[in-house]
Amino acid sequence: MYTSRITGMGHFVPDNIVTNENLSKMMDTSDAWIQERTGIKERRWIVEGSGETAATMGAKAARIAINKAGLTKDDIDFIVFATLSPDMFFPGCGVQIQDMLDMPTIGALDVRNQCSGFVYALSVADQFIKTGMYKNILVIGSEFHSGGLDKTTRGRGVTVIFGDGAGAAILSRSEDENRGILSSHLHSEGKHARELTVEAPSIAHWVPQIMEDNDPDDESYYPYMNGTFVFKHAISRFSEVILEGLEKNNLQTTDIDMLIPHQANLRIAQFIQKKFKLSDDQVFNNIMKYGNTTAASVIIALTEAFSEGKIKEGDLVVLAAFGSGFTWGSVIMRW
Ligand code: UT7
Repeated sequence: MYTSRITGMGHFVPDNIVTNENLSKMMDTSDAWIQERTGIKERRWIVEGSGETAATMGAKAARIAINKAGLTKDDIDFIVFATLSPDMFFPGCGVQIQDMLDMPTIGALDVRNQCSGFVYALSVADQFIKTGMYKNILVIGSEFHSGGLDKTTRGRGVTVIFGDGAGAAILSRSEDENRGILSSHLHSEGKHARELTVEAPSIAHWVPQIMEDNDPDDESYYPYMNGTFVFKHAISRFSEVILEGLEKNNLQTTDIDMLIPHQANLRIAQFIQKKFKLSDDQVFNNIMKYGNTTAASVIIALTEAFSEGKIKEGDLVVLAAFGSGFTWGSVIMRW
């Protein structure tokens, strides 16, 4: 059996920086509240009318990743695209990437697993590589939140957290048994689906009825989050799924060289860091700059940690995520 390893990565975020101060002019919030509860200082939001979307940002990140892997678009065998904010209800963003990058008619799969999206997408790609079906897979996480947020005080519990951005990785076939993805671990608990959700637009709401109602006060188009409930589940599921991955590979928390947690809230990452007695050098966070970019957050953080020289060959790298669904997962890699 083959092994799979990341051979190239890239990320893209919009230029437009939105600070906590900027938000406090749109709604009743403050820099102090946001920083104290989440650690976020600023995020990037797409400028309305710029034409940027989840697919266009994904394409930009993908071009960088393909280049860094020393490949061309024609070397890519398959696309896996994770997002909760696709350009269209259907088809998914994967096929848009195939077109935007002028790729051959390779397969394209969209993953709908929110904050765990990149971890799930990487795990899917890993299976295709390990069985020998494909050699190089383009895995993208991209998110365009800002166009779907309630930017009034009504939405402040959610809106201040989310940012836009994209990241991409090339997962390639390898025959080196000591490097690459060692294992991945995926979970879900659908009974909590409504604790973090955007209910509409959805066919379940009967489209003709939605159009007839045309109700500006219909909040089902905006994200809803039971923040405290999600927070409590996040800290226990993050810990569980990291330990599950380590145990599977006969490793301990002391073996972790770099933990990349999904950037949901700096307090969650700090809780895990403290629980596992990890040093600041063993955990990478960039939520301060980008907010929560859901499916893009893990790959943007991994790309930045690598480009800042914080990940070296042979390092044990752990990716972990938790989010809407609930879904959660981890990927254990030897870099
Ligand atoms: O990525 C997917 C997974 N997501 C997560 O893991 C997120 C998990 N949850 C969280 O990170 C936190 O729950 C939040 C950061 C979202 C909220 O923090 P919290 O400490 O749980 O605050 P809260 O929702 O309990 O609200 C506390 C107070 C409320 O006011 P009252 O009822 O005490 O008067 C809110 O209305 O803070 C108020 N509030 C705000 N105040 C200023 C809520 N949002 C804001 C805001 N600015 N943006």
